[in-house]
Amino acid sequence: MSKVSVIGVGNVGATCADVMAINEVADEIVLLDIKEGVAEGKALDMKQASCLLSMDTKITGTTGDYSKTAGSDVVVITSGIPRKPGMTREELIGVNAGTVKDVTTNVLKYSPDAILVVISNPMDTMTYLIQKTFGLPKNRVIGMGGALDSSRFKTYLSMALGDANLNDIEATVIGGHGDTTMIPLTRYATYKGVPVSEFLSEEALNKVVSDTMVGGATLTKLLGTSAWYAPGAAGAYLVEAILHDQKKVLPCSVYLEGEYGQKDICIGVPVVIGKNGWEKVVDFKLNSAEKALFDKSAEAVRATNDVLNAVL
Ligand code: 2OP
Repeated sequence: MSKVSVIGVGNVGATCADVMAINEVADEIVLLDIKEGVAEGKALDMKQASCLLSMDTKITGTTGDYSKTAGSDVVVITSGIPRKPGMTREELIGVNAGTVKDVTTNVLKYSPDAILVVISNPMDTMTYLIQKTFGLPKNRVIGMGGALDSSRFKTYLSMALGDANLNDIEATVIGGHGDTTMIPLTRYATYKGVPVSEFLSEEALNKVVSDTMVGGATLTKLLGTSAWYAPGAAGAYLVEAILHDQKKVLPCSVYLEGEYGQKDICIGVPVVIGKNGWEKVVDFKLNSAEKALFDKSAEAVRATNDVLNAVL
């Protein structure tokens, strides 16, 4: 029996739960929110959808009762406020750091062995906060950003390639999950196994990179709040890789101890995801330009981490 809890069922958390239910990723999903009745309502709505889609995941909702999440194998943390148009993810730290810390304390009380998937923003710093505060084995704390950013990178590549089939595109984004910190690795991006630089000019590729980096902000501007379909689906994709021990290589924000030349930081790097959480860092050989971008990204993530003490 596998059990997943989703803490915070706003747009992202609810979409994540819904995608997990549709794909029958777990035997049981618990939705928890602090807004009276919302998690219960969304759980009931999803249950009714189950009848139509012949899904048989057990779905329940609770307003703040963490005992219902007891024994979860994976807990997805989406709590906190989303950004509004014009805001950066980093600006959310003042409100979200305290929330994420409280939520994690409650989660671990009932599911001390759970693998934690962190979606709350600023995601790299929230992942670092959990890692440093609770001292969990590092493989059990995973920040979800790279899978989402890579899906945006693939989408913009597909558009630049004249609506190429997304399944024919391989592309990875590493670095921080921020408008100026993420690093779409164009050199490693392929279409049907061929480097995309064979099909796209440098100018076109540069545009794909800049569109990818502000991919979240573009949606926030269009929607008036941050996006949810791809963020929720990316969370579900990550949970599936854990529960089904898929050994998928996904870029995730994890605690580094020297890998990619960085330590004491959570930042996006490709990792193998399986039943133990993130199992190992995969070493993409970065050239010196990519390495310089990664170091600069780490510096920016570290600057946000430094704010933690002031806001907690
Ligand atoms: C995004 O990039 C929610 O951070 C998330 O849309």
